Amino acid sequence: FNVPPAKNEPVVDYSPGTPEREALQKKYKELYNGHIEVPMYIGSEEVKTGDTHELTPPHDHKHVIGKYHRGNKEHVQKAVDSALAAKSKWERMSWEHRVSIFLKAADLISGPYRAEMNAATMLAQSKNAYQSEIDAVAEIIDFLRFNADYMTQLYREQPYSPKDTWNRMEFRPLEGFVFAITPFNFTAIAGNLPSAPAMAGNTVVWKPADSQIYSAQLVMRIFKEAGLPDGVINLIYVDGPDAGDVVFDHEDFAGLHFTGSTKVFKHLWKTIGSNIDKYKSYPRIVGETGGKDFIVAHPSAETQTQAIATAIIRGAFEFQGQKCSAASRCYFPSNFWPQLKDELLNDMKTLKIGAPDDFSNFINAVIDRPAFDKISGYIDKAKESKDAEIIAGGNYDDSKGYFIEPTVILTTDPHFVTMEEEIFGPVVTIYVYDEKEKWSDVLKMVDETSPYALTGAVFSQDRYAIQEATEALTHSAGNFYINDKPTGSVVGQQPFGGARGSGTNDKAGAKLNMLRWMSARSIKENF
Ligand code: SER
Repeated sequence: FNVPPAKNEPVVDYSPGTPEREALQKKYKELYNGHIEVPMYIGSEEVKTGDTHELTPPHDHKHVIGKYHRGNKEHVQKAVDSALAAKSKWERMSWEHRVSIFLKAADLISGPYRAEMNAATMLAQSKNAYQSEIDAVAEIIDFLRFNADYMTQLYREQPYSPKDTWNRMEFRPLEGFVFAITPFNFTAIAGNLPSAPAMAGNTVVWKPADSQIYSAQLVMRIFKEAGLPDGVINLIYVDGPDAGDVVFDHEDFAGLHFTGSTKVFKHLWKTIGSNIDKYKSYPRIVGETGGKDFIVAHPSAETQTQAIATAIIRGAFEFQGQKCSAASRCYFPSNFWPQLKDELLNDMKTLKIGAPDDFSNFINAVIDRPAFDKISGYIDKAKESKDAEIIAGGNYDDSKGYFIEPTVILTTDPHFVTMEEEIFGPVVTIYVYDEKEKWSDVLKMVDETSPYALTGAVFSQDRYAIQEATEALTHSAGNFYINDKPTGSVVGQQPFGGARGSGTNDKAGAKLNMLRWMSARSIKENF
């Protein structure tokens, strides 16, 4: 058995009149008019508790597309027990066999489930078809195929053996179970966080965000159809504190694979720390959290205004800005700001907002009411402040769906609240600096403004300025872009993750990440 070298899954463009577009529209309608009942998946059981909750699309929040069964502490305990019961068989299965299940899942998504994965994510997370294709089709497939490839590379790396000795490394899984917590914003992350530890031989308890349940259960069904044995991944829908009370109290808790807010991650880390004496091993803690991602331009970028306008629009507003990598604070020099502003505002006039079933809508709804309230609250702060002015967008409407116009705030204060705090919505703030200001001072301001360090971009035509920025911003972003938007990392091409308040920087979809789920044994044998 040879794991094929991974290549990125090509995206389908869904042009009008293509059979792919028709199939996707048909599937979307079918799901929109359907009413699924979603159980939890614990061991061999599909668990229906009777404590049901409605599933509704963010862009049409009075329309019900299904219901899910919610669990409690008892179900968390069952999920942990199932994970532990499945462990010894799963970890002893040869890694090629484990991996082949996830490669099969990738093929199922690429083929028969492509339209359904895309439509489910369009519907339940309110993404347009192109963004959904990137997330719920291409990126999840890439995670599965590249991680399989990394396993072959890692397992092949063996130490030197002098004469009469055989030194070897065994990449065993962790001892115990792994807890995966996934956010609403990427179906690909729902695929990656439980599957990466599972490929390495771990068994997993998986809790998705409530607003991700609709697509998470589809990922789970595809894993099962691909042959995933019972209990290897256990999918539960419970309150965070209920999950935490059981999982972090357990002596076999071996690792956390998390994507979500900085606040929650810090809380979990503290809980794990305070329980450290209970555990058999030091748990692996891997987390990707918030961001306050920047675009900074040097005065030499005056010929790049169109590229910068596009970087703002795509970087800040694609996926409704609900990406931890989304551009949300910009620093532009006064020499070309008037030109850039004209181009930006002109381009923004073409952005259509509405439900994803109309493929021409660029912006869809934000995920739920708390998100809508939080984002609109920041827009209101800008409206009320003497230090800020809204130069585009600024309106919002939740009557049918949680719609927020793409909004550009211009501020005279580089420390204005929307320059510093994570908003997680289609809002970007721009600060215009005096073109005569020293470049090193501008870079210092970029570096010091935010506690996060996820992504960032610099635009310049001057190699020295690029060099200086790359050095001065060494610790300001885990993913750094030169003359490009700060979003859209591709698995296998730009391993993704940040440091400081943005996470442990173990790079999703990379060898580094896979190593975190392995506990190596070195064996020396004389013969
Ligand atoms: N990896 C995505 C990006 O780079 C964010 O999750 O935009």
